[in-house]
Amino acid sequence: TRHMLSSADLSRTEVLDILATAESMHDLQRREVKKVPTLRGRTVINFFFEDSTRTRSSFEIAGKWMSADTINLSAKGSSTSKGESLRDTAMTIDAMAVDALVIRHNASGACHQVAQWVRCSVINAGDGTHEHPTQALLDAYTLRSRLGDLDGKHVVIVGDLTHSRVFRSNVITLKTLGARVTVVAPPTLMPSGIVGWSATDGFATSWDLDAVLDGEDPVDAVMMLRVQRERMSGGYFPTAREYTVGYGLTRDRLDRLVARNPDVLILHPGPMNRGLEIAAEAADSARSVVLDQVSAGVAVRMAVLYHLLAGNDDAPREPAELET
Ligand code: CP
Repeated sequence: TRHMLSSADLSRTEVLDILATAESMHDLQRREVKKVPTLRGRTVINFFFEDSTRTRSSFEIAGKWMSADTINLSAKGSSTSKGESLRDTAMTIDAMAVDALVIRHNASGACHQVAQWVRCSVINAGDGTHEHPTQALLDAYTLRSRLGDLDGKHVVIVGDLTHSRVFRSNVITLKTLGARVTVVAPPTLMPSGIVGWSATDGFATSWDLDAVLDGEDPVDAVMMLRVQRERMSGGYFPTAREYTVGYGLTRDRLDRLVARNPDVLILHPGPMNRGLEIAAEAADSARSVVLDQVSAGVAVRMAVLYHLLAGNDDAPREPAELET
């Protein structure tokens, strides 16, 4: 496949191939081999129309560690601020013979749209409330490195599901890998189309976090999502206090989780609202793999660039080059 637009485009075999390549990349880093020549001569543009810390820097590091030329652009500082359209912007960058365009955009579907206009590979680095496929891959990588095969594992995703592209991509990839997923949100932040879904429909939904955490089905991992206040116009409900009481991973909930499963994992894609959706005691606990997710992000994005760009032209780029 030429693009990385949606988690739904990846078969189980493709996900496992990418994660296996990411493991090779991680091995190199563990051996202090940070740079490989695999993408020498390739150009990757990171165009972020929305702010980012993790995704943008890890794509840049991933490209640089594979010897690609990486260039960062943001809406501010580009001619987008002068009114240039998304189509003209994308076609202008494509005309410079770049190999990949990594895009984050506030409009759902923007990456799919751009992919129809350009010849280069397009990678979705988060489009509105739609998808964030490389986040789902790095989350799967993190989970598998601790839990092994995800078949039958129970992952609970909690938070502002309405605005969460991380939730959408994660549900798809986790199901692709055979995990059992329960999603929990307050009624006002649960996408209306999925209310009442049960595990037999693909994944289970609940408005009651405590019932899920204390339920019959032991939890292997809890993924807390950020309350995305910037996507809520006119305030949000529940209030911050109500949210924490009903849906926050508080110290008490962490203790109950660990009492039932001492190996339970706590994930958060970041950035975290400490004290709102996750208590500092949970974010910094021994069960938290938040920073593992960040470091997996570099290896997984190297793997994605490798799968999309290596060896799809005449230049000799053998996988063996990874072993340098
Ligand atoms: N998880 C994630 O996408 O973080 P950034 O917004 O910092 O890239």
